[in-house]
Amino acid sequence: MLIRPRRNRKSEAVRNMVEETHLGVEHLIYPIFLKNGSQVKEEIPSLPNTYRWSLDLLMSEIESCMELGIRIFDLFPAVDESLKDKTATYSYAEDNFYLLAIRKLKEHFPEMTIMTDVAMDPYSSDGHDGLVVDGKILNEETNVILNKMSLAQAEAGADIIGPSDMMDGRVKSIRQTLDKNGFTEVSIMSYTAKYASSFYGPFRDALNSAPKSGDKKTYQMNPANKREALLEAELDIQEGADFIMVKPALCYLDVIHLLNEVSSVPITAYNVSGEYAMLHAAAEKGWINYDLGMTEMLLSIRRAGASGILTYFAKDFARLYRNKR
Ligand code: PBG
Repeated sequence: MLIRPRRNRKSEAVRNMVEETHLGVEHLIYPIFLKNGSQVKEEIPSLPNTYRWSLDLLMSEIESCMELGIRIFDLFPAVDESLKDKTATYSYAEDNFYLLAIRKLKEHFPEMTIMTDVAMDPYSSDGHDGLVVDGKILNEETNVILNKMSLAQAEAGADIIGPSDMMDGRVKSIRQTLDKNGFTEVSIMSYTAKYASSFYGPFRDALNSAPKSGDKKTYQMNPANKREALLEAELDIQEGADFIMVKPALCYLDVIHLLNEVSSVPITAYNVSGEYAMLHAAAEKGWINYDLGMTEMLLSIRRAGASGILTYFAKDFARLYRNKR
């Protein structure tokens, strides 16, 4: 045998030298759920070790994440049912607790990078990402609302706007709205290839945002499709997206790979709630090692071609990573 691939695996030093993919805490974006009030830290049963935080308690949580090297956070609001309506007006209301929290966080942690979520579902009495009229999701009418929401978030201090709604043309209309109002430095991370997935369940529990009727298949993509992701990517890049996201991550590694081959902007991936919950459940039963499983999942997403990964594992990974160094 002239060629023995095992020689390049013979010691940790050699293995480390030839390691092809780097995964570090700088690649991770940590999703955080915010709730109005004070002294709130509610665990979400289907998302172990993940909480709905009120701002007062969140402050020290952010501090401990920053100490671990996490710099980018994606914030989601858990809105009281009584504030939800058909047109998501609370999303840009003056006294919106989420917008107020963003302002306070930016004041307190100037080096924190804040990503915000743009879609109607956390604020919608219909539980849909777009405006529902006679059972239909209206595209352009939704975009008008998304523009208002994006502008309010930029005014509050968001660094990255994350449209997660999948309406057509919304990246362009948000980009134009931001630019017209002087927010040319605010980035857009578009949910570009977002699939109608069963893996969002725990997230919808966290926000109590499941659709009241129907499903999201007229706007989110069919899990059977890959070519369609190319069209979505082409449009989002033309419309001014700074990053394009694939979501979920693990069942769609081929899509991440494909977009990374052809895209002129960086690819990100959302390692979604169900993917996180699945490993937790298996680890709890003693069937899979949590730390090893987590690292392997995140590594696979990086290997497929993602620059950044949105993941509920961020803090656990950061802790593990620090102890290893
Ligand atoms: C909705 C939204 C969803 C997620 C992020 N934004 C759920 C959905 O589309 O129903 C899911 C994230 C996760 O599961 O972790 N705008």
